[in-house]
Amino acid sequence: MSNLTRLLARTDAVFEFAAQQLQTLTDKHPDQFPMYTESGKWSIEGERWTNWCEGFLGGQLWLIYLATGDETWRTKAEHYSKQVEERVSDDTVHDLGFVFWPTYYRWWTLSDDQDLLDIVIRAGRTLASRYQAPGAYVASFVGEDSLFIDIMMNVGLIFFAGYESGDPELIDVAMEHSLTSRRHLVRGDGSTAHEALFDRETGAFLKHGTHQGWRPGSSWARGLAWALYGFGTVFSFTGDGRFLQTAQACANYFIEHSPDNGIPPNDFIEPNPARPYESSAAAIAASGLLQLSELSIDPAHKRLYHDQAVTILTTLTEPEFLASETPNWEGILKHGVYHERKNLGVDESVMWGDYFFLEALWKLVDAAD
Ligand code: GLY
Repeated sequence: MSNLTRLLARTDAVFEFAAQQLQTLTDKHPDQFPMYTESGKWSIEGERWTNWCEGFLGGQLWLIYLATGDETWRTKAEHYSKQVEERVSDDTVHDLGFVFWPTYYRWWTLSDDQDLLDIVIRAGRTLASRYQAPGAYVASFVGEDSLFIDIMMNVGLIFFAGYESGDPELIDVAMEHSLTSRRHLVRGDGSTAHEALFDRETGAFLKHGTHQGWRPGSSWARGLAWALYGFGTVFSFTGDGRFLQTAQACANYFIEHSPDNGIPPNDFIEPNPARPYESSAAAIAASGLLQLSELSIDPAHKRLYHDQAVTILTTLTEPEFLASETPNWEGILKHGVYHERKNLGVDESVMWGDYFFLEALWKLVDAAD
């Protein structure tokens, strides 16, 4: 039996467990959007640092609907998607892709309703309004001088809005942002910096920074996962081979520097990290690697990325990571990290980790059907 066959044989049980956890969460905390657990219990009041995660709960409900075909999950998914609609004009964050892609975009793909499409396009326009012409990037929530690697995972929303609305300015913003990120955040070895800081007047690059990684010159694992997935998405929109090459360089670094089980620590470069795992980075990478396997042309790359995604997901479905055998744990995946320095959601379940884990598994199930 191949590794893929063995993994596929586990997916029904995983989706069943995920559905139970999400039912319990939505019964216990109706219309709430927790970001991380504290000792395994979803935290409703915990500090958030920024407002970026509300789409991942509705997104998981859509994935459960797809996996089960049960209309009650669709009703719940629509309900939780509608809760984020007011964010469509929120120009204070760089994360509207995280909010609207798993919810309204997914919903639109399943219904083809113009009103849903209009909301996704409006969200893309709002995100594009954070564009800083002097440095040619969409600014992070911390300030106009700041560019985050995370935004590569959101810029697809601007490309999508540009192509669907026929607005070339949106496509220009998304393209310039992607090229600036490639130039200033991706190193020659395929590792990534978390943040680049620019002179606001001239747009000149000044220095690197980090918030969730170890050092400005290190490689925060989740940032690298956002990069390999995000640059792949940009290649899928543009067909520009520079972005495929960058996505592959990031993926190759991620794979070469991960342990055999596929799960990296919070930062690839930090010596003797306090904890061995950041499971959400692995889940994001698995989903991004499945996309990259589809997009890659060379059969060796296709196989490498697909096999690594299977390795990661196999590890994540074992009891060390999947919470199904951990009594009273409310999340799906254990050993995720939100923000080590602020001590928020450290070695816990995190909402996006659960989302990308289910997304990656769903891609495998869908491809096998
Ligand atoms: N975009 C925020 C994070 O990855 O923590």
